[in-house]
Amino acid sequence: MAIPMTDSIYVPNPATVVKIKPLTAMEKVFTIELPRGVSLGHRPGQFVQVSLLGIGEAPISISSSPSRSNGTFELCVRKVGDVTNAIHALNEGATIGVRGPFGAGFPIEKFKGKDVLFAAGGLGLAPARSVINQVLDERGSFNRVILLYGAKTPGELLFKDELATWRQRDDIEFHVTVDRGDADWKGNVGVITTLFPKVAVDPRNTVAITIGPPIMYKFVLMELLSKGIPEGEIWLSLERRMKCGVGKCGHCQINHLYCCVNGPSFTYAQLKGVEEAV
Ligand SMILES: Cc1cc2nc3c(=O)[nH]c(=O)nc-3n(C[C@H](O)[C@H](O)[C@H](O)COP(=O)(O)OP(=O)(O)OC[C@H]3O[C@@H](n4cnc5c(N)ncnc54)[C@H](O)[C@@H]3O)c2cc1C
Ligand code: FES
Repeated sequence: MAIPMTDSIYVPNPATVVKIKPLTAMEKVFTIELPRGVSLGHRPGQFVQVSLLGIGEAPISISSSPSRSNGTFELCVRKVGDVTNAIHALNEGATIGVRGPFGAGFPIEKFKGKDVLFAAGGLGLAPARSVINQVLDERGSFNRVILLYGAKTPGELLFKDELATWRQRDDIEFHVTVDRGDADWKGNVGVITTLFPKVAVDPRNTVAITIGPPIMYKFVLMELLSKGIPEGEIWLSLERRMKCGVGKCGHCQINHLYCCVNGPSFTYAQLKGVEEAV
């Protein structure tokens, strides 16, 4: 559902950056407000196209959950190139362009009553956080909540305040790891798959959501499948180059799938056998 302000799906809506919070050397969280109290009306797992005049447009996942929207939404942006560096250079009060929300998002209603296992790697926590917080805000509707999160180093862990809160809750099984520790790091060291032996999984009642870099998917999928979780209950989010965001240009196409419209979240059952998907 697009924001009902401009008549064209290609024309960005002006929006205001109301708050900027640095998270790491590479990532900042931007709180965005649309004019006239318009709500973004997103689902967890959707993304927006963010544009800056004269620079360009980039797809960015919505990191806040609909349950915490409050008339604003959050984007966690890693600076890697032209658009994302320009977003990082903005000050509070700046105007950006927003199109969307786009994508199918996660069918969170279907997850109710199940054990929900999240495996997020690196920046993958940004989109995963939208689903995680929605699940936590409706905690009674889900069975076990298992969160596995991995980053390269302790300095690259995102949303450290929230990680501390999750660690303290006794209704979440939370495990975090880093590829390389430092002098202060007392936790697990190793890639995210080293966390899987710490959790017992009931494959008959588990839905798994994994979001992270492509290399992570290969190994996490092996773990999830070896635990017997059905292919249709394993969700992953694909990142592909995007342009229109609405299924017209073909930039994000993988065979018959359009990441921008059919995804970016797919089940492994949908992707299995699709060349170059995972
Ligand atoms: C559905 C979706 C959701 C995303 N969510 C987020 C998010 O929440 N936070 C975030 O920081 N980023 C996210 N990204 C990635 C983000 O869109 C890219 O980093 C951004 O488009 C880069 O634009 P740029 O102009 O800053 O970099 P450019 O100047 O275009 O490129 C910088 C470098 O990144 C490479 N690159 C650019 N875009 C991509 C891409 N899509 N895939 C692989 N390599 C690329 C280029 O080849 C180049 O090496 C998402 C991408 C998709 C498709
Ligand atoms: S980005 Fe144009 S079809 Fe998906």
